[in-house]
Amino acid sequence: MATGATVFFGLWLQKPLHIAAANPSGPRLADALAHCVALDRPGAVLELGAGTGSLTRGLVRAGCPSDRIIAVEREPRLAAVLRRDFPGIRVIQGDATRIGESFVAREGPLAAVVSSLPIKWFPLETQRVIVQPCLDLLGPGGRFLQITNAFSSPLPMERLGLSGREVCRVWLNVLPAQIWAYWGKTELSSAGGQS
Ligand SMILES: C[S@@+](CC[C@H](N)C(=O)[O-])C[C@H]1O[C@@H](n2cnc3c(N)ncnc32)[C@H](O)[C@@H]1O
Repeated sequence: MATGATVFFGLWLQKPLHIAAANPSGPRLADALAHCVALDRPGAVLELGAGTGSLTRGLVRAGCPSDRIIAVEREPRLAAVLRRDFPGIRVIQGDATRIGESFVAREGPLAAVVSSLPIKWFPLETQRVIVQPCLDLLGPGGRFLQITNAFSSPLPMERLGLSGREVCRVWLNVLPAQIWAYWGKTELSSAGGQS
C-alpha cells in the first residue's frame, strides 16, 4: 500500500475542497494540539477528519492510549491507512455530520474532540450538526478543539451559540496554524473546564 502522504496528496489533487490541504499537518502542530487535550478527563478522544493520522500520532506521543482514540475519516482510502498504521484505534469511515447517529453517540462522555475538518468552509447547519452532538457528548468542561490556518475563529460563535478562544498558535507547521477551543455558551465558567 502507498504511504499515507502519497494517498493524501493524490486525493487532494482529485478533490482539493474536500481534503483542504496538500500535505498532512506537521509534528509540532500535532504535539501542540495533543497538549491542549485534557487527557485526565475520562472517556474517549474523538478525532474528526483524521486523514493519515498525523494528529493521531501526536495524541499517542502525548500518552493517550490507542484504545481511547476514535478517528472519523470520510475518505475510504485514508480510513484504510489509519487502520493499517494504528491497529489499536477505532476508525469510523464516514461523515462527521453523522456523529450523532454513530456508535460514538452511545459511547458516553468524551474527554475531548479534536478536529482538523475544513469546518470554516462548511455551511452553518453542517457546522451545527457536527459541533452540537460533540458538545453534548463532551459535557461540562469538555472542549471541542479545532485547528485552522485562518487567524480568526473558524466557527461563527455567536450564530452557533458557542464560546471559544484561540489557545495556541504554531508557526513551524506546513502552514502557520492556530488551535481554537470551543464550549457551549450556556456552560458556566465555573464548570472546571480548561479554557
Ligand atoms: C485538512 S485534512 C486534515 C488531515 C489530518 N488530520 C491532518 O491534520 O493532516 C481534512 C481531513 O478531513 C476529512 N474530511 C473532510 N470532510 C469530512 C467530513 N465531513 N467527515 C469526515 N471527514 C472529513 C478529509 O478527507 C481530510 O482527511
